[in-house]
Amino acid sequence: MQTPARRYDDPLARLDFAALDRECWWMPPGALALAGVPAFEALPLALRRRVSHVEYIHLLHAGLWLESVFIARMAGLAQRSEDPATRAQLLELVREEAGHSLMFVELLAQGGFPLQPAPKAAIALVEHAGRIVPSGSALFWALVVLGEELPDRLNRLVQRGVEDATLSALVYRMSRIHTRDEAAHAAYARGRCTEATAACPPMLRALLAPSISLGVALYARYVCYPPASLYARAGLDDARRWRGLALANPVRRRQVTLLLRPTLEFLRRCGWPLRSRWAEG
Ligand SMILES: [Fe+2]
Ligand SMILES: [Fe+2]
Repeated sequence: MQTPARRYDDPLARLDFAALDRECWWMPPGALALAGVPAFEALPLALRRRVSHVEYIHLLHAGLWLESVFIARMAGLAQRSEDPATRAQLLELVREEAGHSLMFVELLAQGGFPLQPAPKAAIALVEHAGRIVPSGSALFWALVVLGEELPDRLNRLVQRGVEDATLSALVYRMSRIHTRDEAAHAAYARGRCTEATAACPPMLRALLAPSISLGVALYARYVCYPPASLYARAGLDDARRWRGLALANPVRRRQVTLLLRPTLEFLRRCGWPLRSRWAEG
């Protein structure tokens, strides 16, 4: 029997969720979607910290949904794989993503935040993509690379908060555990994407590339911009206006461009002729 290559550490056994600290930032101030917006920077410190809590909660909500999609697709691929090493690798991914989702559920419960489904439009889009994008295809792996890497880069921004703000120790540890596993997931997805793309005829890549560019735009908007309901929950009046300010925020836009750039460059090197407004900076 094939033994899994990596040792598994159960995140729930390593984290003390009761230590969640509401007096700390959960995202560093510079990593917020509203960072640099003058009206936001003028708000009292306690309110800006609460906004950091809901922005982190949004990252968890997005993570829970994405991981549920990955788990389902990876489990399906594993079930169809007759190669023991491939099956073991895929099941490792499933196990680790389930561990991440479990820690997200714990933190949400500890923070008193309800579980929240992804927006209906996002669910419908992914279900549609699930029907037309075969698991294991070049397009499938390109989307997996994107899906894995953007939240991971946001997560790395969270960790930088330990240097320039009072970041919650629990959030920092959670984020470190996630990053360590995600580095392996991204490397695996990149390897599979490289192989599958090389086997995909250039004409087909040219035809499919616009759907990746569209996916990048929709996905970045969903992951990097919290919904107005969370801003309301943080105590901001006129929450829709704050979401509008985040969407129009040039600081955030620049940050999202930088977060996406390595993934877009990788996909282009693979042979995807991508055009994305996020790539222009
Ligand atoms: Fe994960
Ligand atoms: Fe992952």
